[in-house]
Amino acid sequence: MDSSTIKARKSVRTFSDKPIPDEIMAKLEDFTKQDTNPFGVPITFRFLDRRRDGVSSPVIVGANTYVAAKYRRQEDAELGFGCSFERFVLLATSLGLGTVWLAATIDRKAFERAMGVGSDEVMPAVTPLGYAADKRSVRESLMRRNMKSDERAPFESLFFRGDFGHPLGEGEAGGLLGPLQMVRWSPSATNKQPWRLVVDGGRVHFFERRTKGYARESTGDIQKVDMGIAACHFQIAAQDAGLVGTFMKSDPGIEAPEATDYVTTFAISGEVSGA
Ligand SMILES: Cc1cc2nc3c(=O)[nH]c(=O)nc-3n(C[C@H](O)[C@H](O)[C@H](O)COP(=O)(O)O)c2cc1C
Repeated sequence: MDSSTIKARKSVRTFSDKPIPDEIMAKLEDFTKQDTNPFGVPITFRFLDRRRDGVSSPVIVGANTYVAAKYRRQEDAELGFGCSFERFVLLATSLGLGTVWLAATIDRKAFERAMGVGSDEVMPAVTPLGYAADKRSVRESLMRRNMKSDERAPFESLFFRGDFGHPLGEGEAGGLLGPLQMVRWSPSATNKQPWRLVVDGGRVHFFERRTKGYARESTGDIQKVDMGIAACHFQIAAQDAGLVGTFMKSDPGIEAPEATDYVTTFAISGEVSGA
């Protein structure tokens, strides 16, 4: 898994009838048994069959396999979920498969039943799994156009230096350019891109810009899941750039715009020479 997979990923909602070979399924299953995330949140994955488990989504055409995951309620569980599930999505992408994060447009009752979601558990999202069809459905093409899924907000509206008063241009990002570009290309619920990052020396502070109505009992704070995806992309690209670091809570206490909350910090501890 590296930055090239992050760049290659796009949501897929229209699938062909080509079956997934057993050896590819085995690789994905192995991953779900071993994966850990930097936030220390255990995630339980399950592979589901459309017919056997009675699961479906109104926006998906042609997929017979779905993958869902859940966590037990705990602090920052959304970050861990976002990170682990996105790593799964990237692994599937690198194996030539199509995926799409689905939190809202699913038969949630059926998925939660199939996952055995307990009262202290949350299943934020699922994905279909399969090979992309040659042509997107009309509905999928319209969705992509409405959400501007091929675009992202300008770099300097998402990233800052020192505080929120100083936008960071791509030309000033130095060794953090790759990691920040990969954060920018993260998928997010309805492409809202809630991540706002403040770079302060060797620390990169992650803030969540909340949109009203996106935190629910059934899905948890779905935009915090988006933040977990962004954190995962940052970490993968930092590794590609030879940067060593860890996520920690280290609130810089800087003044943030309305509805914008501190989430986590990536603290850089060094560089691997020759990277
Ligand atoms: C947490 C999360 C939830 C999402 N929920 C849905 C959903 O319910 N239905 C859907 O069609 N797409 C959903 N998406 C997919 C986004 O619309 C998509 O990622 C975004 O438009 C960017 O397009 P891209 O993934 O092709 O880059 C979700 C994405 C994320 C990250």
